[in-house]
Amino acid sequence: MKALVCESFDGLSGVQYRDLPDPKPQEGEVLIKVNYCGVNFPDTLIIQGKYQFRPELPFVPGGEVAGEVLEVGTNVKKLNRGQRVLAAMGWGAFGEKVVVQEANVYKIPEGVPSEQAAALLETFATAFHALKDRAELSVGETLVVLGAAGGTGIATIQIGKQFGAKVVACVSSEEKARFCKAQGADEVINYEEENLKERLKDMGGANVIFDPVGGNQSELAFRSLLPGGRHLVVGFASGEIPAIPWNLPLLKSASVVGVFWGHFWRNEPKKNARNTRILLKWLEAGAITPVISQMYPLADGKNALQDLMERKAKGKIVLKV
Ligand SMILES: NC(=O)c1ccc[n+]([C@@H]2O[C@H](COP(=O)([O-])OP(=O)(O)OC[C@H]3O[C@@H](n4cnc5c(N)ncnc54)[C@H](OP(=O)(O)O)[C@@H]3O)[C@@H](O)[C@H]2O)c1
Repeated sequence: MKALVCESFDGLSGVQYRDLPDPKPQEGEVLIKVNYCGVNFPDTLIIQGKYQFRPELPFVPGGEVAGEVLEVGTNVKKLNRGQRVLAAMGWGAFGEKVVVQEANVYKIPEGVPSEQAAALLETFATAFHALKDRAELSVGETLVVLGAAGGTGIATIQIGKQFGAKVVACVSSEEKARFCKAQGADEVINYEEENLKERLKDMGGANVIFDPVGGNQSELAFRSLLPGGRHLVVGFASGEIPAIPWNLPLLKSASVVGVFWGHFWRNEPKKNARNTRILLKWLEAGAITPVISQMYPLADGKNALQDLMERKAKGKIVLKV
């Protein structure tokens, strides 16, 4: 099969499109013929050796797919050949075939396009876990989303609206602000041109901050938190891990809350499966919709990774296999 293969931790220059032997499913595993792969920011980190996991070289990057079941290993109970499925994995997605544990494979609901299914899990499951399990977001609370036009950001806007929150989307350009409004954000702030802390204060402050960006906006956002507020630490797309003065959580009576969806789905698989089933119902009902702004053929997958690294992506980028 053809695949994008990471041969050294040198970023894009270490990734080659080449032949690999077909994988074979073992006990409890499913072999999927991949039709689409979702591309995510962690894929840009893993090829630089900067992610939480550092696979042995060479390896195939990519964390989510949609496709068809080609073959099942022994003891696979719920899936059969030919079924349309989506699946998440730490790496291995950017190829024509992939082997995944049955527990991480879900049937695609009737009527849902496969490309949307491929763009669901990493971002929407992260956003859902963050808002439901970590922030315990309530109806009527104000949810502030940094990097709101990105993959996790758009998912958080949509899920925040499902929770009945007021959603404030924060972005770096007018184009991204318009994009977030179209996705249901109640208010938008361009943090390149406006003072984030002042604007949030004028709006009455924040209950929950979803922060996948880090850098200098994090402290400004934290300072807008109301008593009982929760600042969700999701990622550092800016490349900068902020250092927040330790007195601020005390003065604000607010919490810094870590979010690590990968840890959650590995260690609490039943809860993660329950969350995923809710997301699939919402997807089927049209209550949430992954927004795909660009699609590249698998062979050009490096362009997708480059767009993410250069802050150019809006919503999700998907590879067509
Ligand atoms: N904790 C978890 O469980 C979990 C799960 C998934 C992802 N993540 C992490 O969350 C972060 C965001 O993921 P994502 O899928 O939302 O990524 P994304 O689609 O690339 O969006 C990230 C946003 O960050 C902002 N940004 C600021 N400086 C940037 C820079 N130098 N390069 C790229 N983007 C920059 C951009 O918005 P503006 O231009 O509007 O500022 C961009 O839209 C990543 O660090 C990822 O590893 C964590």
